[in-house]
Amino acid sequence: MHIHRYERWWMTFGLTMLVLFAGSIFIAAFADNINVPSGNQTVDPAKVSSTPPFDHPGLRRLPDGSYEAYYVSQVFMFTPSKLEIPVGSKVTFYVTSTDVVHGFEIAQTDVNMMAVPGWVNDATHTFNRPGTYLLVCNEYCGIGHQNMYGTIEVK
Ligand code: CUA
Repeated sequence: MHIHRYERWWMTFGLTMLVLFAGSIFIAAFADNINVPSGNQTVDPAKVSSTPPFDHPGLRRLPDGSYEAYYVSQVFMFTPSKLEIPVGSKVTFYVTSTDVVHGFEIAQTDVNMMAVPGWVNDATHTFNRPGTYLLVCNEYCGIGHQNMYGTIEVK
């Protein structure tokens, strides 16, 4: 059977697209707490401290009673380092970095993302159990990496 050169090219193209499509479905289905930068939320890493809302990191209460928490990561700290939220609160965390890639993981929750310079990642969690939650950097970021943590007080 003779297959024309262009036909072969199109078959290859079609197959590649199919594989990419299947791959994206797989990622969407099984890796939903890996937050890939969406491209919609960017921030100049050099101007984080003057770009709202990251110029005032911390907690904001929304009209529906849920919360947004804005975090800035840098070597070797999170701002804010401490957060207090009422038990039962639904909180969406927004995080960026001013320097290198950091991790943003809240132990005992499914919040686990990367803090990437230039990008804003987000993850949401409802805190139904009171207690002190540890926020840790789980991405090696330099000599002070192991000291990079924060706390979230739920009460
Ligand atoms: Cu920041 Cu490790």
